Amino acid sequence: MSEIGLNPSVALLDFAFTYPFKLLSKEGVRQIRAELTRKEVQQHCRFETRRNPYAIRGVWKYSPFLVNLWRSQEATEAVSQAVGYPLLLNQLDWDLGHVNAEVSADYPNEFNPPHAVTQNLEAMLPPEHIKSPAATFRKNFTTEHYNDAFVAESYNGYDDAQKFTDFWHVDDYPFVCVVMLSDSSQFEGGETAIRTNRGGVIELKFPEAGYAVMIQGRYVAHCARRALNAKERITMIPTYIPADVMEEDTTFLDAAKGNSHLGELFQQWSLYRFERLAKRVDQYTKQRIKDQIVAGTFNKHEIMEECDRLIAYLEQTKQQITWPDESLVTLQ
Ligand SMILES: [Fe+2]
Repeated sequence: MSEIGLNPSVALLDFAFTYPFKLLSKEGVRQIRAELTRKEVQQHCRFETRRNPYAIRGVWKYSPFLVNLWRSQEATEAVSQAVGYPLLLNQLDWDLGHVNAEVSADYPNEFNPPHAVTQNLEAMLPPEHIKSPAATFRKNFTTEHYNDAFVAESYNGYDDAQKFTDFWHVDDYPFVCVVMLSDSSQFEGGETAIRTNRGGVIELKFPEAGYAVMIQGRYVAHCARRALNAKERITMIPTYIPADVMEEDTTFLDAAKGNSHLGELFQQWSLYRFERLAKRVDQYTKQRIKDQIVAGTFNKHEIMEECDRLIAYLEQTKQQITWPDESLVTLQ
């Protein structure tokens, strides 16, 4: 963070991104692609939104392989090691194995089989709930931690902005892993681009399928660039929160609301937020309150600060599921 001109104190740690590293073997990539192109996945898990015309989500119901892969200790250890910080897989099953796919319609592709069904759940949402970070930040990008107004088009001019798959944005989840699932060895473009806070852009080029990058995406603006000469650019994006329950968890549901079945998403959200809260309260009680009792002390200021953190956590938990029209929150 500090090396690219961002203040690390706004984030969880002084880490912005890794360069691409090999995460998956060729067989791993082949098997993931086989899972994603299975008929039931293509019929139930394809979603389009205004921001993203082709996402695959909700695969946890159909693919034990992907569940086992991303919940495995090995995968979590690999990404934690890359960041140098203990991570926990995003607890929302709806996001397990999220895929962004860009597939040329000009060629036959296993990712565009004739039986595919694409759902648009975002179209049913009231406008105030369509909060794409990209739509918000497209022009004059500025967040509380970027000190210069940023216009996406200023990077190599407007024409080049057309080559972005996505707009400059920050993510809803603290850490994201971008895993390349297409043969990127001959890509012209196709990078994940990182916005520094000194007016520059750093391009992360994936050498081949199976390579991944880690980004502290909640705090570092980034976007994906189109692969101009390729028939497809498919990435899988497992997301992560801090493993330590005493660390802040700034997860939002803005993007997930647009392409998930809301009843299930909110069930999973409530379970994860309350389980994390319970662990935090338990740990705090054992470590801070009982310790003070044993030591015969009482630090009122410290306890009140923890109350404020718990209140903020619960406010955030509640705010994400506040919903004006209950009829939209159905269980499928
Ligand atoms: Fe992102």
